[in-house]
Amino acid sequence: MELTLKKNILLGVTGGIAAYKSAELIRLLVKAGAEVRVVMTPSAREFVQPMTYQALSGHRVYTEIFDAEADSAMDHIELARWADLVVIAPASANFIAKLRDGYADNLLLTLCLASQQPVAIAPAMNQQMYAKEATLENIRELGIRGIKVWGPAEGDQACGDVGPGRMLEPDGLLELILGYFSPGKLAGKQVLITAGPTHEAIDPVRYISNRSSGKMGYALAQAASEAGAEVTLVSGPVSILPPTSVRCVSVISALEMRDVVIERAPKADIFIACAAVSDYRVTNPATQKIKKKDTGIQLQLVPNPDIVSEVTELDNKPFTLGFAAETEDVERHAREKLTRKNLDMIAANRVGVEQSGFESDTNELIVLWPKGQQLLALKEKYEIAKQLIDLLADRYNAVE
Ligand code: PMT
Repeated sequence: MELTLKKNILLGVTGGIAAYKSAELIRLLVKAGAEVRVVMTPSAREFVQPMTYQALSGHRVYTEIFDAEADSAMDHIELARWADLVVIAPASANFIAKLRDGYADNLLLTLCLASQQPVAIAPAMNQQMYAKEATLENIRELGIRGIKVWGPAEGDQACGDVGPGRMLEPDGLLELILGYFSPGKLAGKQVLITAGPTHEAIDPVRYISNRSSGKMGYALAQAASEAGAEVTLVSGPVSILPPTSVRCVSVISALEMRDVVIERAPKADIFIACAAVSDYRVTNPATQKIKKKDTGIQLQLVPNPDIVSEVTELDNKPFTLGFAAETEDVERHAREKLTRKNLDMIAANRVGVEQSGFESDTNELIVLWPKGQQLLALKEKYEIAKQLIDLLADRYNAVE
């Protein structure tokens, strides 16, 4: 990525041990060409002296709401308006909670409340604090309100714990800041993605489903959003949280997923069918719990609509990427689905094995289109998703 950033970055630093990494972030931002001003909360100053940031940014560090000296340089409203982007790194659990609730009891919170500028937070905290419902809920809510959430990363923590909650490394944050200012390959595109399994009711308490965790589809939603797209994720029941930057519509059954997709597909530029939709549903689900009998029971199944095929039959069909989940002869079966479902591309994965397909954190894909193919070798699902979105954007832009 090109290292030029002729932008004004307001860096907010809150109280956390990761504040030492903010010094390196300032150095990288200045090196990339950015003008950086730093605002510290009172607790941030327990970790790092303002002088450190002042030396690196070349400007006075702002710390107080009522500060005569600071006011003569730039008052807090002016400072907020000056910024092209406000980046809060590290963003502590306490700061995040206050930001969500609209507090203004320190300069940084006041700036956030008084400004219309885009804000990004890089959460950094102990893994237990991060895992608490209150914190996750606060972060999600901020994401829904349009605040960018960068990280956290997983790994060793200063307190000795291991888990999610580490602030992203300064070079990773710089890459995200650069990415924010450079239009992604899917900038302005509407992308509709299905993910997860569907549940097909047998009776009020039982259902037919499959092992899809939603990880692959959610990673694609994240990657598409990072590429600049406006993403709508239509998700079957899963136990993971959707990326904060995407709109998520939750559904249960294949019929519900079909209705949501068919309503939204005509407005989409790109449709990605990653959901593992149940091919069949029970003809007449029982309205009361089926009682256990000594004899066996029989379920009568009826085929579900093929959602992706219905999308590609639309007059104004979006560019469509389907998936193929295969246990053998992956490429041949996938190419047959590419043609039969009238897809623009198909990403095929081997399922029923440990490292790819359903439930795993990693995947390997063979991506096919009418006159070509590419192997995306085994990696974390998020990494594979980024590669697949990149390839899809190239094919989409070539066809457009
Ligand atoms: O969720 P994870 O645990 O991360 O697992 C990821 C995954 C294995 C579910 C994903 O990578 C994947 O392969 N998704 C497609 C699963 C599937 O249903 O494949 P299929 O070969 O049966 O279907 C082919 C295509 O038709 C798919 O795009 C599917 O979404 C679509 N389809 C299938 C049936 C149906 N009734 N409607 C559909 O739209």
